[in-house]
Amino acid sequence: MAPIFTPRADARLRLVLVVAALLAVLALALGYAWARSGSTWAVGKPAEQPIPFSHAIHAGQLGLDCGFCHSDAARGAGAGMPAGELCLGCHQRVWNVTAQFAPIQAAVDAGLATQWASVHRLPDHVRFHHAAHLAAGVTCATCHGAVETMPRTVRAETLSMGWCLDCHRDPQTRGLTPVGLGAQPYVHAGIEVPPLTRCTVCHK
Ligand code: HEC
Ligand code: HEC
Ligand code: HEC
Ligand code: HEC
Ligand code: HEC
Repeated sequence: MAPIFTPRADARLRLVLVVAALLAVLALALGYAWARSGSTWAVGKPAEQPIPFSHAIHAGQLGLDCGFCHSDAARGAGAGMPAGELCLGCHQRVWNVTAQFAPIQAAVDAGLATQWASVHRLPDHVRFHHAAHLAAGVTCATCHGAVETMPRTVRAETLSMGWCLDCHRDPQTRGLTPVGLGAQPYVHAGIEVPPLTRCTVCHK
C-alpha cells in the first residue's frame, strides 16, 4: 500500500509535534515561575493609606524603635498599631498639624482606631503569633525586610505556606532556638516529623 503522506510531510509533522511539546513545557515552566514569583503575592506593592506614613522618616531618620508603635509584638499574637494620640502628641508640637492629619484627628475624636490598610493580612484559616517568633530569636527584618528604609510600607516576603515551611522545617540551622512546640519532638505513625511542620501549628 502506498504511503498516505510523503516523507517530507512526515518530517514536517514530526517537527510540528516537537515544537508543540517544547512550547507546552515552556508554558508550564513559565506558569510555575509566575506562581512562585513575588508578583503573585503582591510583594513590593504599597497600599492606599488614610495618611502617607513613612517608616523611612520615623523608624529610619528619627530612629524610633519598632516597639514604640507596635508594642504588642513582644507579648501577643498581633503586633498592634499605634494610637492616633501617639501621632498627634508629636505632630501638634514637632510638626504642624495640616489637613493631612484630619483622618487621624477624626478617629481620635470618635474614640476609634485609625483604619490603616494592611499589606500583610493572612487568610482567616491561618494562625500566626508574633511573640512566639520573637522568643525564638526571629527578628522583624527576617519577615518584614528593612522596614526602616521604606517610604511606603510594602510586603518584603511572599508569606506563602512554602515560605513559612522553609523555616519551620529546620529553624535550628538558622540559629533560632525554639522554646515551645518546636522544642518538643513529634512522632507520627512511628516517624519523627519536624514538630513545626504539623498542619495544626498554622491552621485552625
Ligand atoms: C511612629 C510609629 C511607628 C514606628 C516607630 C514603626 N511603625 Fe510600623 N507602622 C506604623 C503605622 C502607622 C503603620 C500603618 C501604615 C503603613 O503601613 O505604613 C505601620 C505599619 C507597619 C507594617 C505593615 C502592617 C500591615 O498590616 O501590613 C509593618 C510590617 C511594620 N509597620 C513594621 C515596623 C517595623 C519592623 C518597625 C521598626 C523598624 C516599625 N514598623 C516602626 C507606625 C510605626
Ligand atoms: C516570623 C515572621 C514575622 C516576624 C518575626 C515578625 N512579623 Fe510582623 N507579621 C508577620 C505576619 C505573617 C503578619 C500578618 C499576620 C496576620 O495576618 O495574622 C504580620 C503582621 C504585622 C503587623 C500588622 C498588624 C498586626 O498586628 O497583624 C505589624 C505592625 C507587624 N507585623 C510588625 C512587626 C514587628 C514590629 C516585628 C518585630 C518586633 C514583627 N512584625 C515580626 C510576620 C512576622
Ligand atoms: C516622636 C515624634 C513623632 C511621632 C510619634 C510621629 N511623628 Fe510623624 N514626623 C515626625 C517628624 C519630626 C517629622 C518630620 C520629618 C521631616 O520633615 O524631615 C514627621 C513627619 C511626618 C509626616 C510627613 C512625612 C513626609 O512624607 O513628608 C507624616 C505624614 C507623619 N509624620 C505622620 C505620622 C503619623 C501618622 C504618626 C503616628 C503613627 C506619626 N507621624 C508619629 C515626628 C513624629
Ligand atoms: C525564620 C523562621 C520562621 C518563619 C519564616 C516563620 N516561622 Fe513560625 N515559628 C518559627 C519558630 C522558631 C517558632 C517558635 C517555636 C517554638 O518556640 O517552639 C515559630 C512558631 C510559630 C507558631 C507558634 C506555634 C505555637 O503554638 O507555639 C505559629 C502559629 C507559627 N510559627 C506560624 C508561622 C506562619 C503562619 C509563618 C508564615 C507566615 C511562619 N510561622 C513563619 C520560625 C519561623
Ligand atoms: C508554618 C505554617 C504552616 C504549616 C505548618 C502548614 N501551613 Fe498550610 N498554609 C500556611 C499559610 C501561611 C497559608 C496561606 C498562604 C496564602 O496566603 O494563600 C496556607 C495555606 C494552605 C491551604 C490553602 C491553599 C493555599 O495554597 O493557599 C491549604 C489547603 C493548606 N495550607 C493546607 C495545609 C496542610 C494540609 C498542612 C499540613 C501538611 C499545612 N497546610 C501546614 C501555613 C502553613
